[in-house]
Amino acid sequence: MSTYTEDKRKVTTRRLIEMKQRGEKIAMLTAYDYSMAKLIDGAGIDVILVGDSASNVMAGNVTTLPITLDQMIYHGKSVVRAVGRALVVVDMPFGTYQGNSKEALASAIRIMKETHADCIKLEGGAEVRESIERILCAGIPVMGHLGLTPQSINKFGSYTVRAKEEAEAAKLIEDAKLLQEIGCFAIVLEKIPATLATKVSQMLDIPVIGIGAGGGCDGQVLVMHDMLGINKGFSPRFLRRYADVGTIINDAVAKYVDDVKTGDFPNESEQY
Ligand code: KIV
Repeated sequence: MSTYTEDKRKVTTRRLIEMKQRGEKIAMLTAYDYSMAKLIDGAGIDVILVGDSASNVMAGNVTTLPITLDQMIYHGKSVVRAVGRALVVVDMPFGTYQGNSKEALASAIRIMKETHADCIKLEGGAEVRESIERILCAGIPVMGHLGLTPQSINKFGSYTVRAKEEAEAAKLIEDAKLLQEIGCFAIVLEKIPATLATKVSQMLDIPVIGIGAGGGCDGQVLVMHDMLGINKGFSPRFLRRYADVGTIINDAVAKYVDDVKTGDFPNESEQY
């Protein structure tokens, strides 16, 4: 067991900032249900993101747009019940914070009251400033998310690397500074050039968690089903597969089907 997993203290937003200050990398993964959240919390993950990627991974939608606030709250509650140590972040789903900052606050309050999560995450920079400020005023910690923001897929038109052009990179830097200035405790940078992500990480005092943004970030996040090989249809260059759980499940189920069909299961010691 590593020294990291021996530290059983609850991870807080403050502790993440301290980790950045002492150069300790932050490990974050998604989870959407009790059983998986319990496993990854026990394995020493620092931050669990109840991501709106649940829309893809759990519900089979093509984008993150269809998932509702009620559904995110359901996933959030399931995860929080399992977690003792990790900081739990719940994504605000598409349409619950972009239009009106009072609605944004009401959505964030529902997430915090009903899930008992530690904080929320939302996508965007200057365009959602008012919503972020209002949520922060209510004492709810906010994690930002810049670069490839999947809730804007219909504007981007594809999931390719963002901020390769100078103008978009400059806007991302301005947005990152703004998110820190107004009080976000951390930001996620998704699928941008590693040099840009490193620059932003060095520029900010708050932790920068990358996904497809290179090794210069203060931490990394992956979608758990992708890194465990459960969701095999998605294999971007930035993804490292740590296991082939999909094949393990497939083989186990095929063996079970075979055992039931042949009458091998249950045997005498497996019955009353
Ligand atoms: O919803 C999600 O899983 C995310 C990660 C990709 C950062 O936002």
